[in-house]
Amino acid sequence: MENIFKNNIIRLKEIDSTNLEAFRHKATCAVVADCQTAGKGRMGRNFISDNNQGLWLSILETDILSSELTAWAGVVICKILRKHGLEAQIKWPNDIQVNGKKICGILCEMKNQAVVIGIGINLYQEDFKDLSSIATSAKLCNIFIDKEILLSEVLDGLNQMLLDYPSKKEAYLQYFKEKCNTLNQEIAIQIEGNMKKGIAKDIDNDFRLVLELSDGSIVTKDSGEIFTPRL
Ligand code: BTN
Repeated sequence: MENIFKNNIIRLKEIDSTNLEAFRHKATCAVVADCQTAGKGRMGRNFISDNNQGLWLSILETDILSSELTAWAGVVICKILRKHGLEAQIKWPNDIQVNGKKICGILCEMKNQAVVIGIGINLYQEDFKDLSSIATSAKLCNIFIDKEILLSEVLDGLNQMLLDYPSKKEAYLQYFKEKCNTLNQEIAIQIEGNMKKGIAKDIDNDFRLVLELSDGSIVTKDSGEIFTPRL
């Protein structure tokens, strides 16, 4: 199958952020770097992406301008990591976790009629130091994944995802719900500036989180960060 990303891979030793570089490139491409000096996370955070410790990848595409792709990409990565033997799950909206710790972050950005999907997968780290309670890597889960093979699988998965969009939505949604470890949990999330507690009840047809708050009201969130309160 023709894969436009595989035909346009930009490989770099070091870059500020593969997301930024993909936007600079403008045309359809995949940017992969050994090291990011200013890796971007969600909500303006840094994403630690040291030399050769993981797959730091962004694709730029201009055909489908939908923020839903962030959830679809989560499904793609979750499936691939499971094929490698990792018990991957999706923490809404799109972190991939193993045993409750983050192994992959996804940052989708839209600008100038282009979408960049940035994916960071932790592969070879042995110690996350003060992040040890929240971050993990394939290595720490005793799984070895070759970075080149993973790159090829991810680019195939993302290419197929864009062909599947939107007709295969039901299948992506079902998989998302099946592997979402946020559902049926007591969680906390910011709503209009206030931290609210509730139960994650469902993922709706637009991949939004449906919450039942402590006062019984139902709220739907299309973005945000989930906290699991200590019980
Ligand atoms: C998050 O979990 O906060 C999202 C992290 C996304 C990180 C990836 S690494 C490749 C791409 N380039 C970036 O600067 N960020 C994304």
